Amino acid sequence: MRYNARGGDGETGGLRCLFVDLFEYQARDLLASHGVPVLPGGVAETPEEAEAIAREIAQPVVVKAQVKVGGRGKAGGVKLADNPEDARARAQDILGLDIKGHITHRVMVAQASDIAEEYYFSYLLDRSNRTFLAMASVAGGMDIEEVAATRPDELAKVPIDATVGVDEAKATEIVDAANFPAEVRDQVIAIAVQLWEVFSKEDATLVEVNPLAKAPDGTVLALDAKVTLDGNAEFRQPEHAALEDAASADPLEAAAKEKDLNYVKLEGEVGIIGNGAGLVMSTLDVVAYAGEEFGGVKPANFLDIGGGASAEVMGNGLHIILSDPAVKSVFVNVFGGITSCDAVANGIVSALQHLGDEATKPLVVRLDGNNVEEGRRILAEANHPLVTVVDTMDGAARRAAELAAA
Ligand SMILES: Nc1ncnc2c1ncn2[C@@H]1O[C@H](COP(=O)(O)OP(=O)(O)O)[C@@H](O)[C@H]1O
Ligand SMILES: [Mg+2]
Repeated sequence: MRYNARGGDGETGGLRCLFVDLFEYQARDLLASHGVPVLPGGVAETPEEAEAIAREIAQPVVVKAQVKVGGRGKAGGVKLADNPEDARARAQDILGLDIKGHITHRVMVAQASDIAEEYYFSYLLDRSNRTFLAMASVAGGMDIEEVAATRPDELAKVPIDATVGVDEAKATEIVDAANFPAEVRDQVIAIAVQLWEVFSKEDATLVEVNPLAKAPDGTVLALDAKVTLDGNAEFRQPEHAALEDAASADPLEAAAKEKDLNYVKLEGEVGIIGNGAGLVMSTLDVVAYAGEEFGGVKPANFLDIGGGASAEVMGNGLHIILSDPAVKSVFVNVFGGITSCDAVANGIVSALQHLGDEATKPLVVRLDGNNVEEGRRILAEANHPLVTVVDTMDGAARRAAELAAA
């Protein structure tokens, strides 16, 4: 899940989950439901489950970490297994593995295929050119950014007219632009049309297959799949809600969701709480900027507590942020509006009281807006040892970054 502002309704808390990145196993199921050839398999949370899945399919199998980050193969998150016992052992190795900061909670066990060639194929929303774009290359398997940077002529980019889409003629244009070999041309054209069906019918902003592999017998298969769904289309995609729930497997995100908080886990060290999606997003930018001075300290999360920043909501938010082991300091950035600064200050004080010993990390608070003087007075009077009040947003961001680096 990624954050983004929906509408400009500021204080009413206009943040929704706009982009949903699916796990590979979810993406693979979606592709299969539109006819794209994939290999049989299933998802497991324990080594025993992985072994059981391996028993149902042909050997050998691959055991693949289900984390939402690329380059799993190189990071040791994709392993071959010759038999079900071996699959169990590989799952044991991979479950719990930290891949670029993402902990592996599930593995996919899929039938393994010998690979003669690896290709790349994707559709995406090209924001800068306000169009949809197909990208395809016969140099697949590897990092496509690297292909784009070092061998740009081997990456075909074909814009797609949204009102026309991808029919067989358009698919042929893409496949020929990428110089797919004659013996797989027809198969890849058919897959290109099916992938477009996934992209358009499922309201995706990204459908990427890397590798699209040719097996030694000539069959073309999607061996890895990445799909991002467009949350704006939720209203006409009711069945996506279940995917979204399963996709937010981060325990902090799940706990936040339970409390109805607009929380997104990020990779940094400075916990962030603010009111209004726009303010929180600019807070992230300001903290990342300030953090450069302190060795690249970054925001640890997005959290918008919305307009009615009550003590209870503040407490829930602080609880989530303080339970994140990556957090070293917290920046509370509130602009008083309908809920004035004194109410917010009281909220912070009673939340800290309520949290007691659980509050162990320094808090930098910046309040501004309606009734700011009274708000600052309340915080000064409470004189909580962990709280520093800083008047400006830049100054507060700098202090929070400094504390996180200490
Ligand atoms: N089912 C499979 N059978 C055989 N090899 C596979 C299979 N799935 C993945 N691989 C191999 O592992 C590599 C990495 O897997 P992939 O799913 O692309 O993960 P990532 O892109 O995160 O590294 C692939 O390029 C492919 O060579
Ligand atoms: Mg891949």
